[in-house]
Amino acid sequence: MADLKNSPLGVFLRKNKICPICTAKKLAASTQIHLNGADKFSNGTALTPPMGWASWNLFRNRINETLIEDIAKAMRDSGLADCGYTYVNVDDCWMSSTRDANGRLQGDLATFPSGIKALVEKVNALGLKLGIYTSNGTLTCEDLPSSLYHERTDAETFAEWGVEYFKYDFCHNIPIPTNAPEISTVTLTKPGTSEGITLYAEDAELRGNAMLLTDPKMADTGRYVTGLEAGGGSMYFSNIDIPEDGNYALTLGLHKAGLKDKYLEIVINDTNVYSLIEPGTKGFSHDGRNQITVTLKKGLNSFKFHNPVASRMDSAAKQYRNMGKELQRATKLVAEKEGREEKPICFSICEWGWNKPWIWGHTAGNLWRTTPDIKPNWISIIGIYEATVRLYKHAGPGNWNDPDMLEVGNGNLTDDENKAHFSLWCMLAAPLILGNDLRQFILPDGSIDKDNKVLKIVSNKAAIAINQDKLGIQCRKVKTNGLCDVLVKPLENNEIAICFLNKGPIEMEISCNMQDIVKESFAILPRSYKYEVYDIWDDKEFEIRDSLSSKVAPHSVKLYRIKADD
Ligand code: GLA
Repeated sequence: MADLKNSPLGVFLRKNKICPICTAKKLAASTQIHLNGADKFSNGTALTPPMGWASWNLFRNRINETLIEDIAKAMRDSGLADCGYTYVNVDDCWMSSTRDANGRLQGDLATFPSGIKALVEKVNALGLKLGIYTSNGTLTCEDLPSSLYHERTDAETFAEWGVEYFKYDFCHNIPIPTNAPEISTVTLTKPGTSEGITLYAEDAELRGNAMLLTDPKMADTGRYVTGLEAGGGSMYFSNIDIPEDGNYALTLGLHKAGLKDKYLEIVINDTNVYSLIEPGTKGFSHDGRNQITVTLKKGLNSFKFHNPVASRMDSAAKQYRNMGKELQRATKLVAEKEGREEKPICFSICEWGWNKPWIWGHTAGNLWRTTPDIKPNWISIIGIYEATVRLYKHAGPGNWNDPDMLEVGNGNLTDDENKAHFSLWCMLAAPLILGNDLRQFILPDGSIDKDNKVLKIVSNKAAIAINQDKLGIQCRKVKTNGLCDVLVKPLENNEIAICFLNKGPIEMEISCNMQDIVKESFAILPRSYKYEVYDIWDDKEFEIRDSLSSKVAPHSVKLYRIKADD
């Protein structure tokens, strides 16, 4: 990039203080994952970034079972399956607007008349896996039935169908309220009797913001506990003697107030968590009740009441974790019931980066969208790349940043832009989910269209190997002048990939000094007298000593695999 520095463009950038040259030292930090107290989500899938195809980017709502089957056949016949593409993902609009008589989702009765189970079987018979989609909301983004409040039923349905990938969107989401109910009594009764134990607010142990208030308009003592909201306070009863093991009705006597919905978690014996929503009230009475069934053990039991949800991020994390757990439960259950091997479901979180899913996503699922939707144009691709490249710390085997499905082959992207888009997603260790029409790769006589430029890109095994490298380390930007970036991704066997990216509209010379790359703590390339370089898109090998440099066309990349010459 020495040339840029003294070029009119370089002078302009410096004068205007636009993105001065920086090194990766600013970015260098460990690749360690933040657990934030919650367990890492791990189901044995996505140990390398998932690869497949999804219907949304090109077909939107114009999908049906024949199209999906034809795409699956094309994935196999074009050789893409042999390159590692496995998942055939049906995005929004596969479902009927009506659940079936048992409250289960069903395929659209006209466009998916054979049902999703039959489609799974057809796709499996081709050696591929089927993926499906709903939203973490009351409806999908296209306003069809969705899984919020139906998590258990839907997870079991998908597992029974044999689905192996699940994308969970965020449209029509209803966040968990941060408010909490105000509790006056807790009554525990055995089902079938009205006799039981009543615990009173004034006898509870209160922590944090929790405090006792009185409302004379309430029945009984009028005492109730408030301040349990937003992780600020909690209320405890310990050493409550229960006569026998079993299910009990837990009835909360509540002080009714306010129009807003409220959320409460009840933690029994420090392990079993139950939750409920108390609706906002327009009612006449000052006292109300809310009831759930809980399992208690004979002897002493403890009860904690609180609402730990303090933010939209807490809410999203909790809702996605809940679905992730239901999927894991469901696939185990179905495997046991049917006496077959478990088919774990790769869980794709799609909340568009709104609630920083890179912080909690690895406790909820296998991948999380980092941004709003991609479009088949350069500005969209580069914007998403910039937002995702800085999140390198959060990606690793089993849990990935997802910069969205590929647009390679869609819109008016040029051959260079398609290559650059694909290369960036490979460097980012991003899921490689194609979004174009794979049927175009097969000629009318059934043979593969070997000259198809898009097929050549998405089936480039050397590029894919960078993406699928077992170390699972996302690239880092080690050098930039705002228009040109140098990216480095460590690979197995002490090798690295280097990508020169020219985002701008004119050809640029990009270079990097090998000593600088070797010095980067994360880049595991040994110091050497010379290095062997493979230029992936030009399919050429050469040697370098001190530096690597190349002219890079506008909206284009150079992609290299490099090893020390021993
Ligand atoms: C959202 C998602 C997209 C796609 C559509 C479907 O916009 O981000 O990827 O799934 O919904 O409606």
